[in-house]
Amino acid sequence: MGSGIAQVAATAGFPTLVRDVGDAVLAKGRSAISRSLDKLAEKGKLDGATRDGALTRLSFTTDLGALRSCDLVIEAVVEDLELKNALWRELDVLCPPATIFASNTSSLTIGEMASATARPDRFVGLHFFNPVPLMPLVEVIRGVTTSPETFDVAMKFARRLGKEPVVSRDRSGFIVNLLLVPYLLDAVRALERGAGSIADIDRGMQLGCGHPMGPFTLLDFVGLDTTARIAEIMFQEYREPRYAPPPLLRRMVTAGMHGRKTGRGFYDYATDPPTPLDPGL
Ligand code: 3HC
Repeated sequence: MGSGIAQVAATAGFPTLVRDVGDAVLAKGRSAISRSLDKLAEKGKLDGATRDGALTRLSFTTDLGALRSCDLVIEAVVEDLELKNALWRELDVLCPPATIFASNTSSLTIGEMASATARPDRFVGLHFFNPVPLMPLVEVIRGVTTSPETFDVAMKFARRLGKEPVVSRDRSGFIVNLLLVPYLLDAVRALERGAGSIADIDRGMQLGCGHPMGPFTLLDFVGLDTTARIAEIMFQEYREPRYAPPPLLRRMVTAGMHGRKTGRGFYDYATDPPTPLDPGL
């Protein structure tokens, strides 16, 4: 998601610095941005000058210290509170006091991260949706300590990106994942119970409810590992069975079937179109 966020920021005219842990991941991000911008330009959704401008506004680094020049830092690391807070603590020392911190977390709360820093008033949530360049929504999350000024900057920033912000309370899953995650988990439970095949459940939700993707295609798209992690965090927060990751999902994650990114999930992506996999029920 980091590359998508960087892409929309640079496209909107912001000089954008992308920091990641290694050169290989940075190169992967850079080529994903370039491919996405080319695709949007090919389809006439972006003119050539805007695409070229976005590319010139982007720079890439592995040096965390380089972020000290930024007015706004948006974090998009995996959903692991310890990892995120270790990063925030480092950034809190490196960045000037005025720098605003924003997390793209999908399931942790803003309060849990803001309190790890000495700037809980300048900490806010900016939750984007995949694929970031195409999805119009950003959830803006006001933590209990977020100042009105910080919240205002976050709302304006989301609009400057051409996104539509919705305001969410600081509760795990915010608005969209609070509803989407139980739906995705229910689809896995429906499969476990033999309600229908992967392909038929997907087709059912696409054709019967007008969803652009069926739940298994969406699970593969978001990542089974990511979904299981989000579900686990939401289950910890609410202790409601609807958020508990079903056994099949856990088994597939353990087996390395993480969806599109590993080439296999509920579908096998070695074929075109992808073939539904028998998850061994
Ligand atoms: N940049 C540029 N182009 C992209 C792209 C990207 N990042 N990703 C996909 N595209 C392109 C495709 O390559 C395709 O190009 P083509 O027409 O030349 O083949 C084009 O966009 C359109 O794709 P499709 O024709 O396959 O499908 P649609 O036009 O219907 O739209 C979609 C694609 C917008 C992804 C649509 O399927 C969709 O809305 N899917 C649901 C996505 C969703 O629910 N996202 C939220 C996930 S939850 C989340 O992110 C929260 C987190 O916390 C988990």
